[in-house]
Amino acid sequence: MPKKINVFLSAEQIQKRVAELAAVISRDFAGHPLHCVGILKGSFIFMSDLVRNLTVDVTCDFLTLSSYGTLTQTSGVVKLVTDLTTPIGGKDVLIIEDIVDSGLTLKYLLDNLSTRNPRSLKLCALLDKPEGRRVQVPVDYTGFIVPNKFLIGYGLDDAEFSRNLPYIAAVDPE
Ligand code: PRP
Repeated sequence: MPKKINVFLSAEQIQKRVAELAAVISRDFAGHPLHCVGILKGSFIFMSDLVRNLTVDVTCDFLTLSSYGTLTQTSGVVKLVTDLTTPIGGKDVLIIEDIVDSGLTLKYLLDNLSTRNPRSLKLCALLDKPEGRRVQVPVDYTGFIVPNKFLIGYGLDDAEFSRNLPYIAAVDPE
């Protein structure tokens, strides 16, 4: 039987908020090139919309981290699956995430990337689920604070499916 879902954030709500975030980030980095680092796979849709709304010069790179596999609960062990393709030393780096839940992924990433001597290192997450937090991480730009529900769409997956939904939906518990 197909799972029951409820639309939680519409495509219009998401696009409006992404444009607002991009305006703030563009203002904060005015006059400086910004190196955007997307965390795959979940961030790829958010990042593509965000960077298209930025008015500063942008370069992009990606790395792949995984801690959930096909699970809905974090394994607690963050794995670096693929690394960046270019050095970040001396650059203003913006990490782009779809969601911060336990915080373990971003904690791992901040510890890792800060050893590479970026000029600055900031975090932007479309969704923040504070109830899930196990370690504190400084999120500099947040799209929406969300409750502790299983969310899919706009990059977020259900066992790899549903990332392509243009909206974000909550999956009803079975
Ligand atoms: C998801 C999401 C974040 C991370 C957040 O990634 O994209 O990277 O979990 O959770 P945390 O704050 O509890 O660490 P996931 O490991 O599911 O991989 P994916 O991006 O490929 O979906």
